[in-house]
Amino acid sequence: MTAQPILSVEGFSKQFELHEQNKLIPSSSDVDFNVYAGKLTALIGPTGAGKSSVLKGIFRTYLPSSGRIHYHCANGLVMDLARCDEHQILALRQTEIGFVTQFLHALPRQATEDVVAQPLFQRGMDREQARQKAREVLDKLTIPERLWGVPPATFSGGEKQRVNLARGLIAKPRLLLLDEPTASLDPKTTDVVVEMIQEMKLEGTAMLAIFHHPELVERLADNVVTLTPPTIDTAKEVA
Ligand SMILES: Nc1ncnc2c1ncn2[C@@H]1O[C@H](COP(=O)(O)OP(=O)(O)O)[C@@H](O)[C@H]1O
Ligand SMILES: [Mg+2]
Repeated sequence: MTAQPILSVEGFSKQFELHEQNKLIPSSSDVDFNVYAGKLTALIGPTGAGKSSVLKGIFRTYLPSSGRIHYHCANGLVMDLARCDEHQILALRQTEIGFVTQFLHALPRQATEDVVAQPLFQRGMDREQARQKAREVLDKLTIPERLWGVPPATFSGGEKQRVNLARGLIAKPRLLLLDEPTASLDPKTTDVVVEMIQEMKLEGTAMLAIFHHPELVERLADNVVTLTPPTIDTAKEVA
């Protein structure tokens, strides 16, 4: 592939320092890959291989321990997400980089349609127009209308996951990170999500995804990157 990547990860590593035990726990180690506009890169590997840690490092939920994460911004600038400051990351999260995590985090009393419309509110879209878009996406993801006005706190796992996806997809980010977005969905809803991901690819969104089902990697991935779990004896005492 000769196109310039939107995201280029080189030598990414993450370790966790367990202060009480004076130990370093390796998570992801020396990971390299690229993500391109309109393409999906899938991270695969057994549980504990450090897949989620890579996504969290890019979104800066975690600060990477080493490596470079070059992100080509819409304005042409290249930023190293492993090193840029918190303000720059927050600005990118609002405008360019989205993350559908495994679990839904929402304000306790916010109505579902407002949870989904949040990224559009943040961009200053008229609230009623944003809600209308939220309802369209909720409908597409087969969340029944009677649930749109109530908070998602008591929803089933699959319903919460669909609300989480709706919020991630509505924002149409340039780079979308997906961590097992369909793990608790039935096959029919999974097909809807696959279609939505394919549409976003056609619109040029670059995606980095972890899928619970290998079949989805087959259906959606343009590149596959395999991570291997660190061996237990690589956990070492902090010097
Ligand atoms: N916040 C954390 N503190 C300590 N260890 C963590 C933390 N997050 C992840 N890890 C460890 O890092 C390793 C990789 O985790 P993760 O990135 O979630 O893997 P995967 O998504 O491939 O299952 C695991 O051993 C996990 O326990
Ligand atoms: Mg994970």
